[in-house]
Amino acid sequence: MRKLVFALVASATLVASTAAFAAEAAAPPSQSWSFSGVFGTFDRAAAQRGYQVYKEVCSACHSLSQIRFRNLQDLGFSEDEVKALAAGYEVTDGPNDEGQMFQRPAKPADRFVAPFPNEKAARAANNSAYPPDLSLMTKARKDGANYVYALLTGYGEPPAAAKLMEGMNYNKFFPGNQIAMGQPLNPEQVAYTDGTKATVEQMSHDVVTFLAWSAEPELEARKRLGVKVLLFLLVLTALLYAVKRKVWRNAH
Ligand code: HEC
Repeated sequence: MRKLVFALVASATLVASTAAFAAEAAAPPSQSWSFSGVFGTFDRAAAQRGYQVYKEVCSACHSLSQIRFRNLQDLGFSEDEVKALAAGYEVTDGPNDEGQMFQRPAKPADRFVAPFPNEKAARAANNSAYPPDLSLMTKARKDGANYVYALLTGYGEPPAAAKLMEGMNYNKFFPGNQIAMGQPLNPEQVAYTDGTKATVEQMSHDVVTFLAWSAEPELEARKRLGVKVLLFLLVLTALLYAVKRKVWRNAH
């Protein structure tokens, strides 16, 4: 009797897990990233192009609230370029001496300006889905860089069996396979100034490099320190070994 119950429970779990699998997201394939590995650094040209993609495409819906304009100097933009970039935005400041809030052009010390004043406004404009802040996105998702790349390149025709809800788009890498974000990148969506061809894969790769930087601007310093610590430990080990041999040479 007990055996029968076990067999029933086991087969029920098996059936349940196969059913759930149908809507499960595919695992994102691994890409090659300049910032992975012990000596990883951010490819500045790619990150600058990625900033252009964020600015011209993603920033229509997604905020990037952890980044200030002056942080862009890390990516190789000059102080004047950053000033000019910031001045293209308006921010609310105040209150002034009359107690009023007022608008002024953004300064390098300001955070990136969000596209919507609040979450309700963002949902109202996006079929009630909320476009999340992208500052920490590559850290917030498992295998983040590969995942975001896969998501941006993972749109396509749904298989015949898939039923999409109103206003949703098929994406094989998104949990449940349907996402409220329409395919954001199409070929030649941005015009790169350095002559790079703006394919969907190229723009996705660039914007992910930019977002990996925004999520962990200190990555390079961290890796440099790690390498130094390892070298130090290596030298220390060699020294200690030499000392040990010297001290014990005549002891029998
Ligand atoms: C027209 C508005 C719009 C644009 C433009 C847009 N997105 Fe989205 N994005 C959304 C919405 C809405 C969601 C929430 C989707 C959901 O929960 O179904 C979303 C979700 C996401 C997510 C989160 C997926 C997850 O796992 O939760 C990522 C990452 C993302 N977008 C990246 C981007 C990038 C990168 C760009 C620019 C290349 C971009 N988006 C452009 C509206 C947009």
